[in-house]
Amino acid sequence: IHSIIRRPDGGAGLAGQTVKVGGLVKTGREAGKGAFAFIELDDGSCLDSLQLMIYADVKPLHEVTPTGTRLRVEGVLQVPPQDKQRKQRIELRVLKVLHVGSCDSETYPIPKTELKLEGLRDILHLRPRTDTTFACNWHNLFDDLQLVKVDCKMKISAIARIRDELTHATHTFFYDHKFRLVPTPIITSTDCEGAGEMFQVTTLIHDAEKMEKDGHPKPEEGFKMKAGFLPKKDGKVDYGQDFFARQTFLSVSGQLQLEAYACALDNVYTFGPTFRAEHSHTTRHLAEFWMVEPEMADADLEFMVEKYDKNAIRRLQMVASTNFIRISYTEAIKVLEEAVFKGHKFEKKVEWGIDLASEHERYLTEEKFESPVIVYDYPKGIKAFYMKVNPDNKTVAAMDVLVPRVGELIGGSQREEIYDVIKQRMLELGLPLEPYKWYLDLRRYGTVEHSGFGLGFERMVLFATGMDNIKDVIPFPRYPGRADL
Ligand code: 4AD
Ligand code: MG
Repeated sequence: IHSIIRRPDGGAGLAGQTVKVGGLVKTGREAGKGAFAFIELDDGSCLDSLQLMIYADVKPLHEVTPTGTRLRVEGVLQVPPQDKQRKQRIELRVLKVLHVGSCDSETYPIPKTELKLEGLRDILHLRPRTDTTFACNWHNLFDDLQLVKVDCKMKISAIARIRDELTHATHTFFYDHKFRLVPTPIITSTDCEGAGEMFQVTTLIHDAEKMEKDGHPKPEEGFKMKAGFLPKKDGKVDYGQDFFARQTFLSVSGQLQLEAYACALDNVYTFGPTFRAEHSHTTRHLAEFWMVEPEMADADLEFMVEKYDKNAIRRLQMVASTNFIRISYTEAIKVLEEAVFKGHKFEKKVEWGIDLASEHERYLTEEKFESPVIVYDYPKGIKAFYMKVNPDNKTVAAMDVLVPRVGELIGGSQREEIYDVIKQRMLELGLPLEPYKWYLDLRRYGTVEHSGFGLGFERMVLFATGMDNIKDVIPFPRYPGRADL
C-alpha cells in the first residue's frame, strides 16, 4: 500500500494496473443500498490505508466489511469517481477475494474510535494493529521513513518500525567504527551492578517422588521431566537442585563479560536484553529492557565521552542540532543548590553525596540547560564497584548522560583496572569474591585501562519518538505484576 499511495502522484499513475494487496479492514461501509462497499484496508506499510471498492456479487459484503477482518484481494487500481473529501487519488476495485480471516465485531476489543495507550496495554497481542495519537516532539526526524505524519499520528506498529531502524542504525554505527559484536550471556552467576536486583534462574525439574515427600501435590502423569533438562545418571534429579550446580541469575548487564573481550579485541559491544528486579513503577523502568553496551580498551573516560558517546548518539540522529553540556557531579549539585536558594522546591534534599533523582535530572536538562547533560565524577558511594576511583579518592570516573523528558539515558565509566584497588573495593562493599574470580583475573593478567557505557535502548526510543511511557515502546513490556503473554 505504501508503494501505491505514497508515490508523488498519490498512485494516480498506476490506474489500470492489476495488484494484490493484503491487510486488515480498518473500517468498512456498505453503499448503493447494499450493492457495493467501501473498505479502508491497512497493511501496516504506512499510516494511510487504501480504499477498496467491492461489489456484493464478488463476496457477500457482511463477510468482508467488519473492522479487524483480514483480507487478501486482487483488483484493478482506478481513480475514484468522486474525490471530493478524500486525499487519496487511487482506489482498488476488487475483482477477487483471495483470503478472508473473519473477525467477530461483537467481541473484537479494538473499537473504531481511538483507544488510550493505557488501555492498549491490556491487549498487547492486538495493539500493533492500532492507530494512536500522541504528542511527538521529534517527528521530523522520521519524515524520511514516512512513518510519522506531521500531525503526529503514530501507530504502535510505527514505533516497532522506528525501533527496528534504531537497532539497525546501532549495529551499522558500531560496524563502521570497527567494534565487534560480542553476545554476552543472559544466564550468569555475577551481579554486574552489585545491587542485588536480579531475577534468579531456577529449573523446572520435577521429581515426583521427592515432591510428594515434600508435601507437594503429585504432578500430572507425563510432567515428570521437562524437555531440555537432563536427568542425572541414576535417572533422578533432585527437585529444586540447580541445573548449573550454582546460583544463577538473569543478567543485569553484559558489561563484565564484555570487559573480557575488550581486553583481547579492543573495541567491542553487546546489544541484548537485560533484566532488573527493581520495584520501580515509573514511566522509565522495565523489568526487561534492551541495552547497547560498548567497551573499549586503552580508553579513559575522557576519550570515550569525546570520541564515542556524543558521536554515537549524534549518528543516531536524535540530537543532531543539540549541544551537550558537560558538568561534574559536584558542579551539578551546586547548580541544584542554587536553584533551591532561588526558591525551587525539590522533594529530595540536595546535598553532595545524593544520587540524582528524576526531579533533579529534569531540572538540569529541562529548566537549567534545556539540553542533554553529561554529568561525570560521581561520589563513589553511590556507584558500582567496578568504577575507577579518581585521585581524590572520593569520586569515581563515571558519567551519566541525562536527556530532557527521559532522564538517564546512558550510564558509563572507566573501569578500575588495578587488581588491589578493585579487590579492596569489592571487599568494602561486601561482595562475594568467588563469582568474580575470573573478572579479577583480567586485572592479574595483562591489565589495561578500559571504559564503556550502557545505553537503555527503550529510553532512546522514548527520546526519539516523544512517547511518554516506556511500556509503549517495547512490544511486550514486563513490569511489576505484568508478564501476561
Ligand atoms: O546505569 P546502568 O545501570 O549501567 C549499567 O548497567 C552498566 N553496567 C552499563 C555499562 O557500563 N556497560 O544502566 C545503563 C542504562 C541506564 O542509563 C538506563 O538508560 C538503562 O540502562 N536502564 C533501564 N532502562 C529501562 N528500565 C530499567 N529498569 C533500566 N535500568 C537501567
Ligand atoms: Mg545508571
